[in-house]
Amino acid sequence: MRLMFSAAALVAASAVLAADEPPPSPEQQARTLAKQFVGQLKPQLKQAMDQGGPAMAVTVCAEVAPTIADNLSAESGWTVKRVSLQPRNSGRAQPDQWEQAVLYDFNRRQAEGEAPARIAFGEEVDGQYRFMQAQGVEPLCLLCHGKGLSDEAQAALDKYYPDDQATGYSLDQVRGAISLSRDL
Ligand code: HEC
Repeated sequence: MRLMFSAAALVAASAVLAADEPPPSPEQQARTLAKQFVGQLKPQLKQAMDQGGPAMAVTVCAEVAPTIADNLSAESGWTVKRVSLQPRNSGRAQPDQWEQAVLYDFNRRQAEGEAPARIAFGEEVDGQYRFMQAQGVEPLCLLCHGKGLSDEAQAALDKYYPDDQATGYSLDQVRGAISLSRDL
């Protein structure tokens, strides 16, 4: 009985503590969503790569990546997308003026030695909070974003993205960014 009482007291105490915690800041929320995006996409990309090679993985990327972005947006109330200075998906990944400036700055930071995983930037813009997290080129990414792609990868990409600009990258360059925005 005594044990049960103290367990109940503990639960009550932690509920009070939880209520006292400040809600996550817009920056924290954006960082969490960016992590969720990568956390959902990467395992599916790797699995498709193992099972069906680059052709299947391109299909997964083409169909799954936009769905993840749309679902995260719908669930969170944020707008979640990916952008690049050399977009593959020209319909979705074209950066606006603010995103372009941030991407140029990310390239500068990377060239000066910062690791892409640590490159991020957020600020208030016209009543919105906007945040971007850089996406660096890892060995896996080179199969579809590097130089001299395999015939199989190239053929799959040509099918979906006739105006693809997202090849020719080297390891550790900034491939693009996850871009998030929300009304304040
Ligand atoms: C199997 C091929 C493949 C691999 C491997 C791959 N990508 Fe992509 N990537 C794509 C495709 C296809 C798209 C276009 C998706 C779409 O239509 O939204 C894309 C789009 C992107 C975009 C969105 C901007 C744009 O250009 O459309 C980013 C950022 C990106 N990839 C980063 C990466 C990173 C970082 C890695 C490694 C961790 C990686 N990709 C690995 C095929 C690949």
